[in-house]
Amino acid sequence: MSETQKSIYYPNKAFAKEARIKNMCEYHELQNWAHEDYEGFWDHYAKEKINWIEPYHTVLDESKAPFVKWFDGGRLNVSVQCIDRHLVDKKNKVAIIFEGDNGDQQMITYLSLSQKVNRFANMLRNQFGVKKGDRVVIYMPMIPEAAYAMLACARIGAIHSIVFGGFSAEALRDRIEDAQAELVITADGAYRKGKPYLLKNVVDEALCGSTPVKKVCVIERNHEEISWVSGRDYSYNELVANESSECEAESMESEDPLFLLYTSGSTGKPKGVQHNCAGYILWAQMTMEWVFDVKADDTYWCTADVGWITGHTYIVYGPLAMGATTVMFEGVPTYPDAGRCWKMVEEHKINQFYTAPTAIRVLHKTGEHEPAKYDLSSLKVLGTVGEPIDPPAWKWYYEAVGGSNCAIVDTYWQTETGGHVVSPLPGATPIKPACATFPLPGIMAEVVDEEGNKKEAGEQGLLCITRPWPSQIRNVWGDEERYVKSYFGDVTKNGKPVYFSGDGAIYDEEGYITITGRTDDVINVSGHRMGTAEIEAAIKKSSDVAEVAVVGKPHEIKGEGIFAYVVLKNEENLGELIETMKAINNVIKHEIGNIALCDDIVFVPGLPKTRSGKVMRRILRTIAKGEAVTQDTSTLEDPAVVAQIESCVKNGVC
Ligand code: WTA
Repeated sequence: MSETQKSIYYPNKAFAKEARIKNMCEYHELQNWAHEDYEGFWDHYAKEKINWIEPYHTVLDESKAPFVKWFDGGRLNVSVQCIDRHLVDKKNKVAIIFEGDNGDQQMITYLSLSQKVNRFANMLRNQFGVKKGDRVVIYMPMIPEAAYAMLACARIGAIHSIVFGGFSAEALRDRIEDAQAELVITADGAYRKGKPYLLKNVVDEALCGSTPVKKVCVIERNHEEISWVSGRDYSYNELVANESSECEAESMESEDPLFLLYTSGSTGKPKGVQHNCAGYILWAQMTMEWVFDVKADDTYWCTADVGWITGHTYIVYGPLAMGATTVMFEGVPTYPDAGRCWKMVEEHKINQFYTAPTAIRVLHKTGEHEPAKYDLSSLKVLGTVGEPIDPPAWKWYYEAVGGSNCAIVDTYWQTETGGHVVSPLPGATPIKPACATFPLPGIMAEVVDEEGNKKEAGEQGLLCITRPWPSQIRNVWGDEERYVKSYFGDVTKNGKPVYFSGDGAIYDEEGYITITGRTDDVINVSGHRMGTAEIEAAIKKSSDVAEVAVVGKPHEIKGEGIFAYVVLKNEENLGELIETMKAINNVIKHEIGNIALCDDIVFVPGLPKTRSGKVMRRILRTIAKGEAVTQDTSTLEDPAVVAQIESCVKNGVC
């Protein structure tokens, strides 16, 4: 353990005094309350935080667990929670600060947000015939219209499914098919590193052949020339102008779906994680308040993309539900230089800054001295998410960016958890670097063994959550069996199923939880979650490939890189390896997108398989790391293959 990891960083005293949760006593009080009266705890917050159209009659119904119902009988609308209720006293407060790649800015007040969302919602209803329960796919850049589209869907009860703009046409098509969406909302394109790029052409490609999509709504951003399919493509900018800025919000049941978000699991097919209205928005708002401790005049910036869960919960839904000012940024942190984020912090007087460890590592490496050039004194809370942060990056973030004065909240959570589940509280938790610390109040997270017994300090275990919580995944879209199988093993507590996260974790002597990474075949590349099976399925589509196994390998910047072991059909092709590598990466680009390109491709004569044909990935992970194989290889069908693979990796060829 390094010096940084051993140290404890106490909350800034002046900050703690004003914080919503001021010390560990208050934290324990809340946690004890939840332990003693779980339903009473949630009932209190649901009543306090949510503007109900109709009150609920039951806080938690676990009778069909793991299919649970929160706040049954209640009615609400998430767009009302995020917008309308703030019009009383925050009409002129800025809701969204948008900054484009080129520095163009928009300040969108709550009143203006309300008008934009209502017009958008009316357009969806009137021009596109979208009804409650319909699925709408959103394939958008980071522009305010992405938030309008989400909130407009929420307003009329349509279920949005955002597909990250870096996904390929093929990946987009798969997600459209699975959700059976009839409408796609997209943009002509956007700007990145000073240059325009196109999105609409990817949608065109995805919609070649037969798909459920009947209409495409296109928002203008960069005004590049795009092709147009008449009768299918419609211009948002033309249609929306005719719509009224008043729109009645659909009265939604607590457990009506709010959105789907596809994420990777251990099979080749991504899962449509389903979140429902009431529980999700409650926890989004509560964690904004507790974990970032955003105050009335604060400006908060999360650098994620709306295509990921972090963008959903902590750019759009959470900040707006609490009535905060949230920043949306179209560009990248390194353009025009590695000082871009700090320039924005200075200019917008950002108080809370939330980003991924990969971005911190890049900025540390390429712009170590950049933070010193700007006035970052507005910062109070710094956050990280998506992957473990390493101590050197943590230290730089703490000292150079935070001026040794800000709490760093290392927030652990997942697409499936909807919001943070294990995280420091900035005014209360003594922080240990690179450690997610403790479960948030109300979250019954534990580190256990496979039978569900709590692990002792220092023993590696599995992170699970033993009671349902409001913002948990409700279903895998269209696949109840997969929902049960993926997250709820045979372990029960008090007769109820326990949620398994798929992550390993470890307690220290003081009960602090450190996340040690995935225990399944999911890898985390630059904080983007990817299934090895998904990448393997893509590579197998290359005509030269007989077999493939993909594993993660530690990567200095990205956290994990993608390492593929490929067995070719025809060994005579070995002369054209470079061409074959390019072809393989082209197939990945086509099937998934650039985010899944391999860092290493090694051609090997065979894979280490057991006699029953299972690939021993542990061995492949060890070899990828450049470490010696110490595992027992006697159960392999052909133990000699291990030495052959090691030699291929060393020499870079077969
Ligand atoms: C990982 C992102 C370590 C973890 C919000 C999890 C983390 C996966 C942390 C979910 C953290 C997330 N420390 N690892 N603070 N936060 N992870 O669904 O492996 O894109 O299972 O949600 O990211 O990724 P997802």
